[in-house]
Amino acid sequence: CGIVGYVGHRKALDVVLGGLRRMEYRGYDSAGVAVLDGAGSLTVERKAGRLANLEAALDEAGRSRFEGTAGMGHTRWATHGPPVDRNSHPHRDASQRVAVVHNGIIENFAELRAELEADGIDLASDTDTETAAHLIARAYEKDPDAAGDLPASVRAVCRRLQGAFTLVVTHADHPDMIVAARRSSPLVVGVGEGETFVASDVAAFIEHTREAVELGQDQLVTITREGYEVSDFHGELAQGKPFTVDWDLSAAEKGGHEYFMLKEIEEQPDALANSLRGHFAGGRIVLDEQRISDQDLRDIDKVFVVACGSAYHSGLVAKYAIEHWCRLPVEVELASEFRYRDPVLDRDTLVVAVSQSGETMDTLEAVRHAREQRARVLAVCNTNGAQIPRESDAVLYTHAGPEIGVASTKAFLAQIAANYLVGLALAQARGTKYPDEVGREFADLEAMPKAVEQVLTTVDQVRDLGARLADSKAVLFLGRHVGYPVALEGALKLKELAYMHAEGFAAGELKHGPIALIEKDLPVVVVMPSPRGRAVLHAKLVSNISEIQARGARTIVIAEEGDETVRPFADELIEVPAVPTLLQPLVSTVPLQVLAAEIARTRGYDVDKPRNLAKSVTVE
Ligand code: G6P
Repeated sequence: CGIVGYVGHRKALDVVLGGLRRMEYRGYDSAGVAVLDGAGSLTVERKAGRLANLEAALDEAGRSRFEGTAGMGHTRWATHGPPVDRNSHPHRDASQRVAVVHNGIIENFAELRAELEADGIDLASDTDTETAAHLIARAYEKDPDAAGDLPASVRAVCRRLQGAFTLVVTHADHPDMIVAARRSSPLVVGVGEGETFVASDVAAFIEHTREAVELGQDQLVTITREGYEVSDFHGELAQGKPFTVDWDLSAAEKGGHEYFMLKEIEEQPDALANSLRGHFAGGRIVLDEQRISDQDLRDIDKVFVVACGSAYHSGLVAKYAIEHWCRLPVEVELASEFRYRDPVLDRDTLVVAVSQSGETMDTLEAVRHAREQRARVLAVCNTNGAQIPRESDAVLYTHAGPEIGVASTKAFLAQIAANYLVGLALAQARGTKYPDEVGREFADLEAMPKAVEQVLTTVDQVRDLGARLADSKAVLFLGRHVGYPVALEGALKLKELAYMHAEGFAAGELKHGPIALIEKDLPVVVVMPSPRGRAVLHAKLVSNISEIQARGARTIVIAEEGDETVRPFADELIEVPAVPTLLQPLVSTVPLQVLAAEIARTRGYDVDKPRNLAKSVTVE
């Protein structure tokens, strides 16, 4: 979910809607706003569906009803209760003086709900959030330690909540104040001139200020026009961590593109270059933060990569490089499975947690489990100061810039590059590579932005192909070696965006089952390895393609330029530049992103906001 709160001198409704627009990628099942005015009233509007529905409802209700300069808003990714008006945030207490928006899950909500019902309170929604609104109102009215004190009332309730949450709370009695609290869910403060913001991420207020403050775990912040005050859940004053956002509004705008995703695909050369910059200095790979000693790094005897979605695929790619360079066993695991199967971890295990947002709850919980078992955790993350890097022993930030399209593109490529840097850092610590070899691998990586630029010149060809494939019922993707995770990623993109049945397979496994799926005209995308680097692998894949072609499939082949042997087997050929084998995913993924986006576009779907998905999922 996306959350924003504002106290300042502008019309809060405009600021809040602007913020929600920039955070809609965090969820779009429903949206709502609450505005306080100086006369002590609290006006709320909320609507199921996209933000546009809320805007229409506001027009109908009359925007003049929302005159105040303090307010908040929410865009929802449904967890408790279906996405209908009644379950949309903000939620209010019975007196309608308190309003709450929430991200996360209050795990003890059933018990809290029962307690409220026993107290004679009727709940109007199916959400866990509404319980918080009633509890805060009750503390404000009745709790002798909190009476009439909004921050104290919120603190008292936060102490009782279990689970993960960001709460933003307003009270009609306090038209100049907004209170927000967080545990394990994201919340940042934005500090402007005579105005202050709280939001799930800086995108919500980047238009107004780049000065931000990071909050710690179990902290509460009270914002007013003059500034902010941070405390813990017991009222002890605390310090936030100020930082300046290093990108600006233009990064969060479409800049003439029809979709963010198309813009982000084109930004990939920059995303790679920025993520590599500064990480090879004085002949050594350097991370951003390292609280693991060199000796401990040398002692690592096993690596796990844990992640979800596309980030998981970046880990699958990295396994090939890290095992090859470091002679260390690497396991790649879906974060949601990791901690529940009792993985074998100890202090010599390195867990690499890869997460664009740094807030994915499955990955965060995997990190916590790993640390409980005394494993070392290294985070690869695209979001400064997010929870996963905060809880890790070492951090490598990707610098892909804000990624707004829900389906990951530039962040994915940056994750692959960063994972490779982790591999090189380990190889250097363990001495499995000489410093000059590390330098050469880094130089190869540095050549990749140019190679990706070259791939981008094939976009028109791929779009044309996408438009022709839009009526297909299903598409299969095949690859071997590092091409296998690329096939998985290509299939995931197509599922996410085009709602089309798509599956990725290891090409060699085809004959052991999936070949039964091949029928006449079924599009099959094949990611070819280089004929130079891996001749044997290449030959095997050529055989695989001829097997499927013989059975009537329509073959779409991604191959290195000048690869003539594959031409007779390719109904469609997309050429990518020649690069070292391990780096091929950085070029071969790009056409698959374009293909999925174009098929979705042709089918009339919103490429940036695929149904049912959200960019960062802060629940398990
Ligand atoms: C969500 C998104 C995916 C993303 C995954 C992991 O499910 O829809 O595109 O790959 O989360 O996100 P993270 O922020 O942890 O990289």
